[in-house]
Amino acid sequence: MAQFSFGNQVLDLQRYPSVSQTNLQAWDAADEHLLQLLAERTLPNSILMLNDSFGALLCMLKALHPLLGCFWVSDAATSHYGAKQNLILNQLSTADIQWLHQPSDNVASVHLTLMKLPKNLNYFAWQLTQLSKQLPAGSELLIGAKAKSINASLLQTICRYFGPATASLAWKKTRIITAIADGKPRPEPLPEQWTVPEYKLQLSNLSNVFAASKLDIGARLMLQHLPQGAFHDVIDLGCGNGILGLRAAQLYPQANIHFVDDSFQAVSSAKQNWQQNDGHAAQGHFYWDDCLTHLPEDIEADLILCNPPFHQGEAITDHIAWQMFVDARRQLQPGGKLQVVGNRHLGYHIKLKRLFGNCHTVASNQKFVVLIAIK
Ligand SMILES: C[S@@+](CC[C@H](N)C(=O)[O-])C[C@H]1O[C@@H](n2cnc3c(N)ncnc32)[C@H](O)[C@@H]1O
Repeated sequence: MAQFSFGNQVLDLQRYPSVSQTNLQAWDAADEHLLQLLAERTLPNSILMLNDSFGALLCMLKALHPLLGCFWVSDAATSHYGAKQNLILNQLSTADIQWLHQPSDNVASVHLTLMKLPKNLNYFAWQLTQLSKQLPAGSELLIGAKAKSINASLLQTICRYFGPATASLAWKKTRIITAIADGKPRPEPLPEQWTVPEYKLQLSNLSNVFAASKLDIGARLMLQHLPQGAFHDVIDLGCGNGILGLRAAQLYPQANIHFVDDSFQAVSSAKQNWQQNDGHAAQGHFYWDDCLTHLPEDIEADLILCNPPFHQGEAITDHIAWQMFVDARRQLQPGGKLQVVGNRHLGYHIKLKRLFGNCHTVASNQKFVVLIAIK
């Protein structure tokens, strides 16, 4: 745990899931820069916040202004859990906070929005179109980001999808962009549509979903080596657009397929893809969650497929992969299989062997390896 100070407030903040022995922290200099700017003004009664990773902005603003109303938006379930955990840890009020995965109609009265620039600029453009539809003309949007991420083309994007924008001077290598809503609603960019002809699958990806417009090369190797068997409960863990689970439904037509992802947009895309590839309504199940934290205990999986992430936001980390493997072991029935694909250099075989006591290589190429561990 680390302490985040601003003015005379000191908060204990954790990432989610909390990671010991790491120098990763739950806030950054752009959060401090945004707070400095706000300290010079009178805040409105309610504000909208987007992409506030683990709730550092929310917690500090609630500490400074306990009655402030907040619409708090994040696509990541782990961000929601993290922000709630940090409010509780610091005994801050959770009243007057609306927890959203995207800006909704009820933000229409908001005149101040705070945003952290997301890594994925297509998703950023999508978020701006959403804001252009919801926020009234003249409403102010402050975007905090690393100075090196801000350039003329980014300001043009903001202008194109939201309204005119200018950037502040740099402070601790960050800048704040101030943009003003011009009140013209923009149409949402359509989801990317593409096909995987060898499996006759049609895919649609919302803007924040992994593998935006083509099959991931790790996923491709995994698809070529899915196990044979009469599986009845298959989990696609970290499903993205659902490609692994969709193929599993073709190979094991009697199985229930459970799609799980941290990204709300990923779960929505997987559901959309299930429907457009004629998945049986009763056999497709969808969960927006951190790994398998809240999967019903009575699902005793006999196969879990996983192409784990190796970063969380900007931070390169293997702790999510580890959590996925731990959760998978818990959810598998005895004899159940966890099949994983990953970059060779990530050393997943060591983790799997430590957890399961066994691990076999199913396939490999120069870059990737497909591994299986049996409970
Ligand atoms: C490498 S992508 C794999 C996507 C897809 N299965 C494929 O093979 O194309 C990893 C996925 O894990 C998801 N993810 C990241 N952290 C997660 C977590 N804590 N719980 C569940 N899913 C997570 C990401 O959103 C992403 O969709």
